[in-house]
Amino acid sequence: MAALSTNQTIAVIGAGTMGAGIAQIAAAAGHPTLLFDLNPEAIERGIAQTDAGLKKLVSRGKMSDEDRIALIANITPATKLEELTSASLVIEAILEDLEVKQNLFGQLESICSEQTILATNTSSLSVTAIAAKLARPGNLVGMHFFNPAPVMKLVEVVSGITTQPAAAETVFDTAASWGKHPVYAKSTPGFIVNRVARPFYAEGMRLLEEGAADVTTLDTLIREAGGFRMGPFELMDLIGHDVNYAVTSTVYAGFYYDQRFLPSLIQKELVDGGLYGRKSGQGFYDYREGAVKPVINDAPAAVPPKTIEVAGHLGVAESLVELWQQAGIEIIRNEGEGWIQAGKTRIALTDGRSATRRAAEDNLPNTVLFDLAIDFNKTTRIALAAGDNTSAEAIQLATGLFQKLDKKVTVIADIPGMVVMRTVCTIANEAADTVFQQVCDIAGADTAMKSGVNYPQGPLAWADQIGLPHVLTVLENLLQAYGLDRYRISQLLRRKVEGGNRFYA
Ligand code: NAI
Repeated sequence: MAALSTNQTIAVIGAGTMGAGIAQIAAAAGHPTLLFDLNPEAIERGIAQTDAGLKKLVSRGKMSDEDRIALIANITPATKLEELTSASLVIEAILEDLEVKQNLFGQLESICSEQTILATNTSSLSVTAIAAKLARPGNLVGMHFFNPAPVMKLVEVVSGITTQPAAAETVFDTAASWGKHPVYAKSTPGFIVNRVARPFYAEGMRLLEEGAADVTTLDTLIREAGGFRMGPFELMDLIGHDVNYAVTSTVYAGFYYDQRFLPSLIQKELVDGGLYGRKSGQGFYDYREGAVKPVINDAPAAVPPKTIEVAGHLGVAESLVELWQQAGIEIIRNEGEGWIQAGKTRIALTDGRSATRRAAEDNLPNTVLFDLAIDFNKTTRIALAAGDNTSAEAIQLATGLFQKLDKKVTVIADIPGMVVMRTVCTIANEAADTVFQQVCDIAGADTAMKSGVNYPQGPLAWADQIGLPHVLTVLENLLQAYGLDRYRISQLLRRKVEGGNRFYA
């Protein structure tokens, strides 16, 4: 199925945040683009805002003024719905209300041709439900853009039960021809991104609730060691807690209150207090004038061990061994299950058990764990956690060992799975379940998270990199520690490990 050609008309309904951006995308691709809104001022405002944005691009040399003029000329305001009759594709970005959307599409069916594809940018409603009252429900497809639409590459192409595959394919190919990264998804709560991203926020808030560290420390670790562009707290503050909490609550209700998606009391408290984040001046951080910028406490300089014993392969952290060697630390290699011994201190990558539990099980009181980093060579920061009975000397030795690699060290409380490992494993687990439940395929899940929310790596490719047996062990230990459905393990992940396979061959 080919993409729509650029001489075919695209109509966009709703000229707000999303609609104006979507019209810009279609117009930039060269389509005659009609923009309709119930409120004519919104159309004017939408086009004016688009033009102002484009002028900025021109002034920065990123776009020629001729292209700007041509783009704006491609957008025609429509004053009546009847003017959309020539459209080959109508994209709706109006109020998020099932009945209002159903009515609109009902009207469109009588205005547009039988071939016109009707697309909805809904982020939380069922595509099947929106199509339910149509005479031709097969023509209705979800076309879920991300904000800001002209910038974010992802488009989730969502099929309801009644969506004709040909209509979804046309939308997919058209989005691709616009330079987007389309991904097929089945109409289920949260589709892909708004579901798979839930643990990013939820685990952050649980870690905070459990006293793992403060928000600044947690955000910094997720950014500097995890490689994410923003930490969960600064991102929630940016999105707005009212919006983020509403998405979580919708997904939670959508899955019949599966405890896996349980919203956080911390966030509810912020919402109830009107502390929505940046837009209200206060959220997890204080944005008001004169507010003191929080700082992160790095561990003080410590002396590294001269010699370490490395027992077995350190898995995803193995590259550290060469770094330590290059840094002049003597390495004695030995048999073992992937740990480091420095005198009486045992140092190991977190496997989802707390350091205290691990110390007790191994009968090694001086256990110190380190957290995952997206790239152990490049990371500038590593988190450590020590058991309740670990000596101060052991923590200093482990601190010195990482500082020897010019990495900053942050010591957090002894929380199972630590910060980056726990976050990445739970996201990967949700991505695996999303694939397992046929919402999308493996590559689709990874593309969605990279192109929709800028994750530094697709979660399933990331799980492969960590090693699926290790990811499974982390989740099993989290499940054992908490007994919560939040850590219920995806059957697909389990099966991959049982078969000795990976997500990608
Ligand atoms: P918005 O409030 O900025 O804009 C909505 C526009 O639709 C307004 O200009 C309003 O006048 C117009 N409108 C309302 N009812 C209408 C009707 N019956 N006919 C014609 N125009 C009508 O809303 P926003 O944020 O652009 O969201 C639009 C849709 O996109 C919603 O379904 C939302 O869930 C979805 N969405 C929003 C995202 C976001 O980050 N804001 C991201 C992805 C999807």
